[in-house]
Amino acid sequence: MNNEEILKELEEKIKKVTNLNELNDVKIEYLSKKGIISSLTSKLSSLPVEEKKSFGAKLNELKDKASTMIEEKRSEIETKLLNEKLNNESIDITLPSTKIASGVPNILEKIVEEVEDLLMSMGYDVVDGPEIEEDKFNFELLNIPKGHPARDAQDTFYIKDEEILLRSQTSPVQARTMLEGKGEVPIRMICPGKTYRRDDDDATHSHQFMQIEGLLVDKNVSLSDLKGTFDLIAKRLFGDDCKTRFRPSYYQFTEPSVETDISCFNCHGQGCNICKNTGWITVAGAGIVHPNVLRNCGYDPNVWTGFAFGFGAERLAMLKYGINDIRTFYSTDLREVKTFDRKDM
Ligand code: DAH
Repeated sequence: MNNEEILKELEEKIKKVTNLNELNDVKIEYLSKKGIISSLTSKLSSLPVEEKKSFGAKLNELKDKASTMIEEKRSEIETKLLNEKLNNESIDITLPSTKIASGVPNILEKIVEEVEDLLMSMGYDVVDGPEIEEDKFNFELLNIPKGHPARDAQDTFYIKDEEILLRSQTSPVQARTMLEGKGEVPIRMICPGKTYRRDDDDATHSHQFMQIEGLLVDKNVSLSDLKGTFDLIAKRLFGDDCKTRFRPSYYQFTEPSVETDISCFNCHGQGCNICKNTGWITVAGAGIVHPNVLRNCGYDPNVWTGFAFGFGAERLAMLKYGINDIRTFYSTDLREVKTFDRKDM
């Protein structure tokens, strides 16, 4: 067979091929080491020198043509297979899709952000303080000396001797801000942050919780300024018809001190189990900054006055979102997180 005849025969065989396996067999028959075309190479050595060159060139041409024919057939078969696959696998776009699970905003953060937004619009700075704190800031500068019974209420995690502790309140940030401000006025700051106490965890206690501290220092600050500010925060969080009231209380670092209540958003004063039938819910401690605290932190109490408040963030979130166990905030149960999603407002 001459080269033309070989190609002709190959062409005929390729025509009959219907799939890739058959095509592979043809390729082996013609182009593998011992295949019809490759074995022609052995003739080369027996040829006279003058013929060797043109024989070799023709042989290469034959190989190229044969490979091209086979590869063209291969791509023809592959295209056909792909088209068949695409036709058979048409996608039904009317089928419901799988929902991709996504995170939801943490509701404690949402409460904090709402308070931050409001107070920042009134000129407050949002500041930060260390969670590992010195006794001096957490207690002493706040008018709670060593051995004072007021310390007992804040069962503290001490880290080193009686000097380094996990802060039991965000109030130390008041002292830090005043000392860092070096006498600058006015001071308007809020500090949301984690706090820790050696409480046994139950539905209303957690050894880790969050407070939102606020401090204002200026001239002639009075309890009515505090009341106005507290009123705005309460309305922002619980709606415009939310009323507020102060009750006398006692904190070492404020004088006078108050407990701040909001009217019950659930029963509007009728009495229900959220407000324990009183119509009022306590949400924060607050008061007028004690002269000793101002003095300790470099402000002359004869010139400067201030108010301070401390909210329990979980308490606000529990009330707002109807959560009845504080431990929910610190569990990793995704079902709980999804519940927050539904209650999201
Ligand atoms: N630090 C107080 C506590 O943890 C809450 C508090 C009360 C903060 C009165 C204040 C305040 O700033 O003026 O119980």
